[in-house]
Amino acid sequence: MKTILITGGAGFIGSHVVRLFVTKYPDYKIVNLDALTYAGNLENLKDLADKSNYIFEKADILNAERLAEIFQKHQPSGVIHLAAESHVDRSISNPIAFVETNVLGTVNLLNAVRNLWGDDLEGKRFYHVSTDEVYGSLGEEGLFTESTPYDPRSPYSASKAASDHFVRAYFHTYHLPVVLSNCSNNYGPHHFPEKLIPLIINNIKKNKSLPVYGDGKYTRDWLWVKDHASAIDTIFHKGRSGETYNIGGNNEWKNIDLVKKLCDIMDELLERPAGSSRQLITFVKDRPGHDRRYAIDSSKLQQELGWEPSMKSEEGFRETAKWYLENEAWLDHVLSGEYQAYYEQQYK
Ligand code: NAD
Ligand code: TYD
Repeated sequence: MKTILITGGAGFIGSHVVRLFVTKYPDYKIVNLDALTYAGNLENLKDLADKSNYIFEKADILNAERLAEIFQKHQPSGVIHLAAESHVDRSISNPIAFVETNVLGTVNLLNAVRNLWGDDLEGKRFYHVSTDEVYGSLGEEGLFTESTPYDPRSPYSASKAASDHFVRAYFHTYHLPVVLSNCSNNYGPHHFPEKLIPLIINNIKKNKSLPVYGDGKYTRDWLWVKDHASAIDTIFHKGRSGETYNIGGNNEWKNIDLVKKLCDIMDELLERPAGSSRQLITFVKDRPGHDRRYAIDSSKLQQELGWEPSMKSEEGFRETAKWYLENEAWLDHVLSGEYQAYYEQQYK
């Protein structure tokens, strides 16, 4: 039985990747390694509890000894690394946590696989999941390709860029069989409500103001999270060693247009008068160093490996809004505790 260790599997994207691998590959043993920070939630995976090919290990990737123990115990031949501090606004108020988990944690993992695999690299793979934010900010025109120079501009993207460089350094220096992907903004079920789409959905539901940073004309390329998981599956199995693949939804939205679209969908789902949620839109102070536009050229992944996104954005946004309305208990749970204090501080 092949063992794949997935880090950050209790988070937003990781939970979709774990579910896809556990259900699609019953002959793989999937080990989910996660520290369960504020963003990690085992409720995201409760439907997998009785699967015999799924194991959870609570561990912090900053703890090298614990990693060595878990790698010895499970002997994974593949690692898919998603664990990270992932929210730009938090990186602005606490950059050190991002250096620790995203940079040091990634290097700890690279060392753990090197120690386990030694020179026996046949059939081994270390997959590093990264973001398009490492490429910086685009103007009105153009797309990020795999050869766009790195130009990170937030503490989050700087820490992800550093981790990407370490992964490539281990490929060149130690011949570690790595593969990387850089993806655009994801959306869908299990998205932590500090991020734009679930925050707006939740605030509309509660009739709270909808904070739009700056002039609202910042642009993101939104990808359905399950399409990201299917791209990771494709790249993990078919990607070439040492290569990077960009993943994107070909689905650009200015923030203000996206917020208005969510307002209209929610008015319909909640049977409120058309246009009523738009009244809640409030322009607030801009994020410092806010990247103007991200957009991805994913033609390398599409042409070389045959992946393409499946979800149309209108349908995806509606599915997402419905999921949040139908999963109140999930939302109430993650909104309690630490998140309240964060929200007060961020939007005071
Ligand atoms: P998330 O914040 O929802 O989840 C992160 C997970 O990592 C959580 O389960 C958390 O408990 C775990 N974790 C954090 N620190 C840890 C540590 N020190 N040790 C072990 N586990 C730890 O993040 P996400 O949005 O699911 O992102 C997953 C990955 O995908 C990240 O590497 C992120 O940079 C990348 N990414 C995210 C997006 C996006 O739109 N969300 C887009 C492109 C790339
Ligand atoms: P976010 O979901 O934090 O993702 P990222 O910063 O990684 O792209 O934000 C998406 C966009 O929405 C970004 O341009 C910032 C903006 N934004 C707001 O306008 N208001 C908010 O309350 C948040 C959280 C984000």
